[in-house]
Amino acid sequence: DNHLVIMAGGIGSRFWPMSTPAYPKQFIDIMGCGKTLIQLTADRFNGICPMENRWVVTSQKYTSIVKEQLPEIPEQNILSEPEARNTAPCIAYACWKIKQRHPEANIVVAPSDAFVLDVEEFRRCIKVALDFTQTGTAIVTLGMKPNRPETGYGYICSGEKLPDQEIHQVESFREKPDLETAKKYLAAGNYLWNAGIFVWNVHTITAAIRQYAPQIAGVMDELSPSLYTDREAEELKRLFPTCDKISIDYAVMEKASNIYVLPAEFGWSDLGTWGSLHTHLQQDTDGNAQVGQDVKFFDCKNCVVHTSEERKVVLQGLDGYIVAEKDGYLLICRLEEEQRIKEFSQD
Ligand code: GDD
Ligand code: MG
Repeated sequence: DNHLVIMAGGIGSRFWPMSTPAYPKQFIDIMGCGKTLIQLTADRFNGICPMENRWVVTSQKYTSIVKEQLPEIPEQNILSEPEARNTAPCIAYACWKIKQRHPEANIVVAPSDAFVLDVEEFRRCIKVALDFTQTGTAIVTLGMKPNRPETGYGYICSGEKLPDQEIHQVESFREKPDLETAKKYLAAGNYLWNAGIFVWNVHTITAAIRQYAPQIAGVMDELSPSLYTDREAEELKRLFPTCDKISIDYAVMEKASNIYVLPAEFGWSDLGTWGSLHTHLQQDTDGNAQVGQDVKFFDCKNCVVHTSEERKVVLQGLDGYIVAEKDGYLLICRLEEEQRIKEFSQD
């Protein structure tokens, strides 16, 4: 049966002040569409994974937010990390847990903070991937066509297409290359961005973690006898923080040889920064976009405005700015300096 693991423990630091460590972007209606990013993520799997097979892994401090935003997911499927150790331990915990009760599970692991335009096409691709990993030992990634030398993503070097399939073999996987390397990959033409969605069966992922991240597998084995017992939380608190702090991309994807890619086009965006939000919102003829009730632009170009409170905002004469307001914080920042927001938001 098909399972979904949503990773929701990140802090979204480049989306400040809408996103804060206390209430990160995956729990916010960033698009102004009435649903938060994690709610949109869960909805995308309707018709693919039944509610009882959905799992969310998040930090302890966000557990109550997840319960509130996804009340249809069984409470016992919301897994709380006592400490953030990045995505490899997060995925390991969920998969060791799933394996105990569902040894034949086929699993999609998904981030909680991406945006997808064409949901029907997304579902079709996920089904193709799940079909492929049902048996065997394949790890399937979804490859997005790159359009700039972005250094914040993983790059998949796509190899030969399998006969009668949409899926390709993967030559290599490289997480967050430097700018020079990213430019080379873009020019080469056979590299795709990793969407951060991984499809594999529970045997494949646990075996891969055992092989490439044995330290984490060892911790999970020690945790195993207490899973689903009343000692689980206590043992997790003791053991989980001892896991290596590493992302699944570095821990497994860069090393594994059984990786495949499904090149996919469903209007994917990582929504990692204000700039990516700007390109996804409805813009006026001057390129201004807003989330919020009442914003008036005079002589402005290419601005993105986000207000969460009822606030009348008037902007005049700005070109290429972010204006965002939340909880007593007001950010006015050039769009091209958005990578520095992390540093501005430090108190
Ligand atoms: N539970 C949990 N615990 N979730 C976490 C943790 C953690 O410690 N750290 C991150 N997450 C969640 C985030 O909330 C997000 O939904 C997802 O895991 C991915 O983490 P990011 O921190 O956003 O990763 P990234 O954007 O740097 O890189 C990944 O995504 C890119 C695409 O957006 C990689 O997979 C790249 O290869 C990929 O291109
Ligand atoms: Mg991300």
